[in-house]
Amino acid sequence: MGTDPLLQPSPPFPFIKKPILLRTTYCLIIPLALLNIFIFSAPPSNPPPLHKTAANRSGGGRRCDFADGRWVPDPGVPQYNDTSCTTIKSGQNCMAQGRPDTGYLHWRWQPAACRLPAFSGESFLRLLANKHIAFVGDSLARNQMESLLCLLSTASGPPDLIYRRGDEDKFRRWVFPSHNATVSIYWSPFLVKGVEKSFAEGKMHNKLYLDTADERWAAELGGIDVVVFSAGHWFLLPGVFYGGGGEVFGCHHCAELNLTDTGFFHAFRMAVRTAVTTAVRKLGQGKMAAVTTFSPAHFEGEWDKAGACERKEPFREGEKEMEYMDREMWKIELEEAAAAAAGASPAARVEVLDVTRMAVMRPDGHPGPYMHAMPFAGGGGVKERVQNDCVHWCLPGPIDAWNEILLVLMGMWREGWELVTSL
Ligand SMILES: *[C@@H]1O[C@H](CO)[C@@H](O)[C@H](O)[C@H]1NC(C)=O
Ligand SMILES: *[C@@H]1O[C@H](CO)[C@@H](O)[C@H](O)[C@H]1NC(C)=O
Ligand SMILES: *[C@@H]1O[C@H](CO)[C@@H](O)[C@H](O)[C@H]1NC(C)=O
Ligand SMILES: *[C@@H]1O[C@H](CO)[C@@H](O)[C@H](O)[C@H]1NC(C)=O
Repeated sequence: MGTDPLLQPSPPFPFIKKPILLRTTYCLIIPLALLNIFIFSAPPSNPPPLHKTAANRSGGGRRCDFADGRWVPDPGVPQYNDTSCTTIKSGQNCMAQGRPDTGYLHWRWQPAACRLPAFSGESFLRLLANKHIAFVGDSLARNQMESLLCLLSTASGPPDLIYRRGDEDKFRRWVFPSHNATVSIYWSPFLVKGVEKSFAEGKMHNKLYLDTADERWAAELGGIDVVVFSAGHWFLLPGVFYGGGGEVFGCHHCAELNLTDTGFFHAFRMAVRTAVTTAVRKLGQGKMAAVTTFSPAHFEGEWDKAGACERKEPFREGEKEMEYMDREMWKIELEEAAAAAAGASPAARVEVLDVTRMAVMRPDGHPGPYMHAMPFAGGGGVKERVQNDCVHWCLPGPIDAWNEILLVLMGMWREGWELVTSL
């Protein structure tokens, strides 16, 4: 793992044109091919109880904007932990890996205008009974999916792994037998057809065919009821972009290729558009497509030194704004989801899991050095350089709140829940 080039600091990329990067030049390029280790453990003998019912306010108010809010202290304990949930990937299993502080576990997201109900595994499983929710994207899609597996396990015990395929099991499917509820993950870091180049040999470039959805998930939409897309970080890597006719129309971080460097925002927009419109068309009425918006990394420090994320608390209100790149990625996703929702009917419902600002405010929620077990063990003080993960989220951790929102979106869709804009 120590030799994974994607975890090495990279030179500043040319897209950072706006001088907005604050002191903490966000050492972006940590995209996470990192994240390939999947963990399978034996099911626990004693599934934890913990049943909560989602709030269900009704009334004629406007729909609550979940994205507008703040993290507030919450003395409650997470619904699951490293012993009660058996499906947490080791690199995100912060408690088990030795992370000593626990303050990051005691915050909940408070929207300005409504109350976000605590996650209810029972409600979610009821909504997902005889249905299939698929997460499609990169390792952050997987991170959210693994949070959901843990949260659902609290209500029904651990799921059965019914399918796995691909190197490092990048395609997996579980079923919760109590409700015949299926949860799956599809590895597709570009959402569209692409070729991930080897990182081992020479210059690395990804090739992206932006007009063509990745068939690895698109071909299976017929058996999917809800698809949740989550991608973005891989677009920062060097890439060559192909259009509909197979022609190259641009590239990113590609000085040596004699092509026009177009940056990656346009490519990301095209990929999101292709993915969402394909899903809407192929899922059809009665199904749902959701986009989890971009979640930024929190590396602090110089790009050529080991970035780390050592904060132990969320940023305070006003302390941190979205940076330029985060905002662009977020806007692209909102705009493309809105355009797809306004498109042809009858079609699937389109929703946005608008988490970018929630994520920006949580530098404390990443594994950091605890992506490795006991990184500081063995005496001798702190190692000269310990690899940090400031991209993914500890489980349990802030990303559980993404699934609290997903539950509400599912409830609105399937049962007409209303969360009105009053507290
Ligand atoms: C983990 O969760 C289980 C079940 O809720 C609970 O019994 C146990 O005490 C928890 N462990 C820790 C360390 O909090
Ligand atoms: C279980 O759910 C799947 C959808 O995920 C559905 O196709 C299948 O018919 C369901 N099985 C039963 C017995 O209802
Ligand atoms: C770069 O591309 C231009 C236009 O396609 C071409 O004229 C030129 O010869 C190319 N340069 C190299 C070094 O390939
Ligand atoms: C919310 O309200 C709807 C409509 O009144 C109802 O069908 C549904 O069961 C309620 N959900 C919960 C979790 O109480």
